[in-house]
Amino acid sequence: MTESGTFMDPLQASQELSQMLSPQTVIRHHEPLAKRTTLRVGGPADLYIEPASETELAAVLRYCAPHQIAVFVLGRGSNLLVRDGGFRGLVVCLAQPAFARVETAGERLHCGAGARLKAVAIEAKRSGIGGLEFLEGIPGSVGGGLRMNAGAMGGAIFDKVVSLRLMDFSGRVEERAPASLAVAYRSCSTLKTEIALAAVLRGKSEPRELIEQRLNEFNRRRWDSQPSASSAGCIFKNPPSIPAGKLIDELGLKGTRVGGAMVSTEHGNFLVNDGTATARDVLDLIELIRTRAQTERSIGLETEVEIIGE
Ligand code: EPU
Repeated sequence: MTESGTFMDPLQASQELSQMLSPQTVIRHHEPLAKRTTLRVGGPADLYIEPASETELAAVLRYCAPHQIAVFVLGRGSNLLVRDGGFRGLVVCLAQPAFARVETAGERLHCGAGARLKAVAIEAKRSGIGGLEFLEGIPGSVGGGLRMNAGAMGGAIFDKVVSLRLMDFSGRVEERAPASLAVAYRSCSTLKTEIALAAVLRGKSEPRELIEQRLNEFNRRRWDSQPSASSAGCIFKNPPSIPAGKLIDELGLKGTRVGGAMVSTEHGNFLVNDGTATARDVLDLIELIRTRAQTERSIGLETEVEIIGE
């Protein structure tokens, strides 16, 4: 996300942008974001854009910079908490086909940032490329997965990245090696200041039955331990001493509610929305958990979800 924005008239900005861009680029103002996140809370974005191509994305960014419009890149909203006041600035979503390809070349998969991680796992299985099964259960896009260094079942996406295509906020595109990015557990901070357009992932050639077996096993483990209700996945990063879910469980907080937000009874690190939650409810529940973890166990919990808006 770029630095904080200043005043702009969303209607005027959307009109100016639509004059610059092709009709294929989706441009909206006051776009509700709750429906674009898996947690389903939060207010609208001043501006919302789905660019039709890299060139149009670059044009949008070049418009925003001199107008000091803050830009946030939205994936599938599966690890995102939007505050109730919404986002003052422009939300870009790489949902159009130009950004969503998944193509195989040998043991490599060329993936657009807008492609679903699940689609990558399915294509890998179809092509007999093993080692990417853990992506199947992560409800995000390739771009969001890279930004968060998303992981599951002992694997994380950056373990598999061979190269990336990035755009900076001035619209300049560069191919990069993963070693040149700042990557950590559940984070890639380089992708706060640059936008992932695509990545090449590498697996290894394996019999399809073996890949299928692992997919089924991961799927079963996930359904056995994680809730299916609206959530943002794990809300906290695991601290070094204990998994956050286990800690929250031991604190007796499963089932604790604030308004329409509740600590899942299935997994302590998931906060679920019963359909009536506001972002305030979720944030208050996060604070309640953090306070209990700090006072009773001296453990500082850090949120894994990205929190935006006002
Ligand atoms: N546990 C409890 N009570 C709970 C939840 C968990 O005792 O309510 C125990 C489990 O029995 C297990 C340990 O805590 O012994 C760890 O739990 P789990 O295997 O479910 O893994 P996790 O560390 O909670 C991580 C990732 C998940 C990923 C799973 C499966 C983080 C923060 N979470 O969860 O990722 O799906 O492993 O591989 O790293 C996410 O990032 O959003 C996410 C859901």
